[in-house]
Amino acid sequence: MSTMYFMLTFFFSGIVTCHGSKSAYNAVPQLLLVSFDGFRADYLKNYKLPHLQEFIKDGVLVKHVSNAFITKTFPNHYSIVTGLYEESHGIVANKMYDADTKKKFSPPHDLDPFWWNEATPIWITNQQQESRTSAAAMWPGTDVKINNMTSHFFMKYNVSVSFVERMEKIVTWLNSSNPPVSFATLYWEEPDASGHKYGPEDIENMHKVLEQVDDHIGFLVAKLKAFGLWDNINIIITSDHGMTQCSREKIIKLDKCIGRDNYTLVDTTPVAAILPRSNKTYVYNLLKNCSTHMKVYLKEDIPDRFHYHHNNRIQPIILVADEGWTIAQNDPIIRLGDHGYDNALSSMHPFLAAHGPAFTKGYKQNTINIVDIYPMMCHILGLKPQPNNGTFSNTKCLLADQWCVSLPEAIGIVIGVLMVLTTLTCLLIIMKNRVPTPRPFSRLQLQDDDDDPLIG
Ligand SMILES: *[C@@H]1O[C@H](CO)[C@@H](O)[C@H](O)[C@H]1NC(C)=O
Ligand SMILES: *[C@@H]1O[C@H](CO)[C@@H](O)[C@H](O)[C@H]1NC(C)=O
Ligand SMILES: *[C@@H]1O[C@H](CO)[C@@H](O)[C@H](O)[C@H]1NC(C)=O
Ligand SMILES: *[C@@H]1O[C@H](CO)[C@@H](O)[C@H](O)[C@H]1NC(C)=O
Ligand SMILES: *[C@@H]1O[C@H](CO)[C@@H](O)[C@H](O)[C@H]1NC(C)=O
Ligand SMILES: *[C@@H]1O[C@H](CO)[C@@H](O)[C@H](O)[C@H]1NC(C)=O
Ligand SMILES: *[C@@H]1O[C@H](CO)[C@@H](O)[C@H](O)[C@H]1NC(C)=O
Ligand SMILES: [Zn+2]
Repeated sequence: MSTMYFMLTFFFSGIVTCHGSKSAYNAVPQLLLVSFDGFRADYLKNYKLPHLQEFIKDGVLVKHVSNAFITKTFPNHYSIVTGLYEESHGIVANKMYDADTKKKFSPPHDLDPFWWNEATPIWITNQQQESRTSAAAMWPGTDVKINNMTSHFFMKYNVSVSFVERMEKIVTWLNSSNPPVSFATLYWEEPDASGHKYGPEDIENMHKVLEQVDDHIGFLVAKLKAFGLWDNINIIITSDHGMTQCSREKIIKLDKCIGRDNYTLVDTTPVAAILPRSNKTYVYNLLKNCSTHMKVYLKEDIPDRFHYHHNNRIQPIILVADEGWTIAQNDPIIRLGDHGYDNALSSMHPFLAAHGPAFTKGYKQNTINIVDIYPMMCHILGLKPQPNNGTFSNTKCLLADQWCVSLPEAIGIVIGVLMVLTTLTCLLIIMKNRVPTPRPFSRLQLQDDDDDPLIG
């Protein structure tokens, strides 16, 4: 009877505490997703970034995010917020052409939803839940009416608006309670712009811009603290791609191999998208033999690992330059840094850091895929994810509410169990060998004793 009473009390108090701890938080968790464009993973190792390091100390770090091919800005930003490879979300390049509709995509001032409608980004899924709102400061696509809806709060893209202005808008929106903002995004063009201009190997100039980026992070944290938002908000700081050094000596000139009238150049470098005017085989043969520093693929032969095939916006022939090489028709204006190359190159990878009640404290992981970010964000916001290419379990160790054993821990446990088993086996063998031996003696002794006249 008393046991029953005890169990019932325990059961109900359990329910009560669960409810209690939930309402102690905000009713809906808040998540802020920040991207610093072109933040190559190893900048974190090679430059002093005190504010970012402070952020990571109490949060999590993923050292390399394996991003999507092609490693460009618009495609990877859309992969982050949809969990889809580029062939599946439809933003397959920064410059696109659709042969069926004859439309051209040329951002940043292209607001035609046509390009974005093949997927539903998380800021829209969030708003399709009851009483939830999204806010955005210039994340690619947030000012477009995707599926007939923009982010509730958003800013029209304008490169001249300062980081501080964007950040102040976002924090004010996050603090607004009517309607309550549960998901927000913030985008900044650096260190990408400087990476292109100077090249990532220009230590002095990259140091300057990374110092500014780090100050922006410090300012953001200070602002969130000033508004009293810091303790409850979850923040992800990540990026779309890395950057590699280019040079004036590493140029592939298409004009040397093929006449311009034979094809349309939809996108240029380092992944050139080629639309043949008439004879595809003819164009392919000429390009195939053009340079040893680029790979030439017919669309149907693009390697599976790129997940870059099933979309009309991928052109019939693509050229992929080797790291550091530039594809041009003639003499180009060379950028000293560039990205877009093979996503297996570690120079193309960004990082991810996160902080807040949803995340583990002080945990570091080597890698995740860029498409894994989406299911993790849906989990934090309690949203049912749209069909996607991400794997939730890849991010379990980053999350405070998930049970996770890291690889070193797992190896430790296995070794520990094996040692205990070995010890037990040894003990058993020793005891087995020991016990029978003294027996004959004891028997003999006993028999001797039996005959002892003193006992009998
Ligand atoms: C898009 O939204 C507007 C109002 O915001 C509505 O009038 C229109 O019918 C909607 N279109 C579609 C295709 O849902
Ligand atoms: C972009 O922002 C700048 C600085 O705030 C402003 O002067 C300019 O008018 C804006 N441009 C557009 C098109 O809104
Ligand atoms: C944040 O929102 C609260 C409640 O709406 C308001 O009282 C407070 O002044 C806001 N904070 C700032 C710094 O604007
Ligand atoms: C195709 O390019 C070749 C040179 O490679 C040129 O001779 C020829 O005229 C071009 N064909 C067309 C249709 O422009
Ligand atoms: C296309 O070009 C290839 C190789 O140059 C040639 O063998 C073929 O006959 C051409 N086809 C047509 C339809 O012109
Ligand atoms: C292809 O390249 C080889 C070696 O680089 C060269 O000998 C050959 O002439 C080239 N063929 C054409 C059609 O350009
Ligand atoms: C990625 O996800 C989409 C949506 O579920 C699916 O159609 C596509 O086949 C997936 N791609 C891969 C390579 O699994
Ligand atoms: Zn760039």
